[in-house]
Amino acid sequence: MERDTITVKDLSIAYDEKPVVWHANMSLKPNSRTAIVGPNGAGKSTLIKGIMGLIKPISGEINIEDKPLKDALKNVAYVPQKGEVNWDFPATVLDVVLMGRYVHKGWFKRTNKKDTEIAMDALKIMKMEAFKDRQISELSGGQRQRVFLARAICHDADIYIMDEPLQGIDITTEKLIIDTMKNLQKEGKTFLVVHHNLDTVEDYFDHVIIVNKTILSSGTIEDVWNQENINQAYYEKSVRE
Ligand SMILES: Nc1ncnc2c1ncn2[C@@H]1O[C@H](COP(=O)(O)OP(=O)(O)O)[C@@H](O)[C@H]1O
Ligand SMILES: [Mg+2]
Repeated sequence: MERDTITVKDLSIAYDEKPVVWHANMSLKPNSRTAIVGPNGAGKSTLIKGIMGLIKPISGEINIEDKPLKDALKNVAYVPQKGEVNWDFPATVLDVVLMGRYVHKGWFKRTNKKDTEIAMDALKIMKMEAFKDRQISELSGGQRQRVFLARAICHDADIYIMDEPLQGIDITTEKLIIDTMKNLQKEGKTFLVVHHNLDTVEDYFDHVIIVNKTILSSGTIEDVWNQENINQAYYEKSVRE
């Protein structure tokens, strides 16, 4: 039987004791491209931060590949939402991509030639190799997102979790990110991606998780991506409000 990569059981997460994700249940299919969709404030970012161990849930269980979470998370590359990153930090493009190697080496070991090669390969995939010595503060939104994806590729994890990677970027970068995601899927990688544009869900993803304060529906695009389920998340008033 095929195991799920990530399973979440009855997960609830609160900020200052105010729950924003309630009793969420989901399983991420291996080798899928899974979108998380839902209105602003639905708890999408909170849910994935819970999975990444960045916020402590008030209850529930998270299982990643049946391993202790600390080890399991080494196999997960995380691309945070744009606004959550300080881009004034003095670092070059190559520095940032090399951070993807630290998980394999620990923070105190220097990166070596091999690491630099891996980082440059990742930059080539994202067509950013010419920018390797550029300060990240000087990049456009689309270029920053490419660097973040290169860092995730450099990490060489099996699972990618990305929070709105296509928000506020140019269409060329959007296409490149989607093509890269599809290529990596062919290599066996799994994607869990918060996505804001309902019009492209079908083209870009094969599974979808619809969220509003809890997980309302999840499954293949064919089974789940229909008007009734979308309305439930976007237009019906939450029973908890
Ligand atoms: N650090 C925080 N402290 C308090 N409340 C927060 C924090 N982050 C998010 N929230 C609240 O939690 C809810 C869900 O937020 P979020 O997960 O960011 O939603 P989404 O990513 O779906 O837009 C929102 O009501 C938001 O205001
Ligand atoms: Mg968010």
